Amino acid sequence: MSAFRRVTTDGPLRLVQVGAGGMGRAWLRTIDADPDVELVGLVDLDLDTARTALIEEGIGGDVVTARTISEVAERTPVDAAVNVTVPVAHLPVNVEALAAGIPVLCEKPAAPSLRDAYRQAAVAAVHGELLMISQSRRYFAALDAAREQLARIGSVSNASTRFFREAHFSGFREQMAHPLLIDMAIHQFDVARVVMGAEPVSVVCDEHNPSWSWFAGAAEAHAVFEFASGGRYVFTGSWVSVGEETSWNGEWWINGAGGTIRWDGADDVRVIPAGARARPERIAVPSGVPEEIAGSLREFVGAVRSGETPESTAASNVHSLAMVESAVQAAETGERVDIDAVRRAALAAAIEYEQDPAVRAALATL
Ligand SMILES: NC(=O)c1ccc[n+]([C@@H]2O[C@H](COP(=O)([O-])OP(=O)(O)OC[C@H]3O[C@@H](n4cnc5c(N)ncnc54)[C@H](O)[C@@H]3O)[C@@H](O)[C@H]2O)c1
Repeated sequence: MSAFRRVTTDGPLRLVQVGAGGMGRAWLRTIDADPDVELVGLVDLDLDTARTALIEEGIGGDVVTARTISEVAERTPVDAAVNVTVPVAHLPVNVEALAAGIPVLCEKPAAPSLRDAYRQAAVAAVHGELLMISQSRRYFAALDAAREQLARIGSVSNASTRFFREAHFSGFREQMAHPLLIDMAIHQFDVARVVMGAEPVSVVCDEHNPSWSWFAGAAEAHAVFEFASGGRYVFTGSWVSVGEETSWNGEWWINGAGGTIRWDGADDVRVIPAGARARPERIAVPSGVPEEIAGSLREFVGAVRSGETPESTAASNVHSLAMVESAVQAAETGERVDIDAVRRAALAAAIEYEQDPAVRAALATL
């Protein structure tokens, strides 16, 4: 039996998108290009932002613009929602949709805190609706090709990502604390869970901000995670790499008893089997696979139609967010942080904070 309600609409899935800012524009184009979905509503606190986005992206048809999902649902049937608002608005928007019987695909990070990530996962369970977190960097044909090779190298003893970009953003990222860990590294940490085939248990982390950095917070971070399998994952990253750069996925090495898998973060995937260093195998990467948010949308639509649980449910994604919160704590304290303890504390805080007995009961099962 499925863990959530299936949507049985025959034609394209009728979507309402919430948030028409920078990333919202990318989602509008992605939804427009996918024949299995149809945009029926665009919600933003600022109606002009929504209307301008539709015009400038050349999206025609009968798209209702409104300030809330409920206003759209009163005017036209809605099958599902895509939440591309700012992180602090994720929980209220998700809760409104789920309570109205609308499954949601929500942009990362699930919420600004682990406590709220747990709360909305419980709300989804209470309403029997799917809440999936869009971790777009899971969807690369080359990563799929690398994942297919994992069985050949056996249990992963260590995996590492080297992430070096010269990233110039205007706005909040250059002012926030821990910009690399909070705004970027969740992508690599999330993929690390896939590669390691296990959940993280502890982390040590060192952060700093080079003298030439244009960020107020630390633009470089180095973290070592221990996983339940006993394997280690090492992330070293910089957003002020003014010399050489890696891809936005970073460059990956994955080692096990059976050998090494290397991925350059673009389309070069190699397997170097144990004892065959001189004969690395280049792995073919298929073309035409929907990548990034198009891949995430495809998985979400498939899940709500089939009832099959997708990889990044809100309940599963708390492990990725816990890696970020724990790495930040480790960087601030200089101590090794127990990730299970961080998760348990957030869950206890969510239970204490929650007023709704049904949600509180659902939290106790997470
Ligand atoms: N996957 C990726 O690679 C990637 C890249 C960039 C951003 N993101 C994520 O996408 C999300 C949006 O980022 P952005 O850069 O587009 O932000 P943005 O500030 O440009 O746009 C957010 C929009 O949401 C609207 N909004 C805020 N609260 C709302 C609410 N309660 N109801 C309706 N509308 C509301 C704002 O008016 C604004 O138009 C964030 O979670 C961000 O982390 C993901």
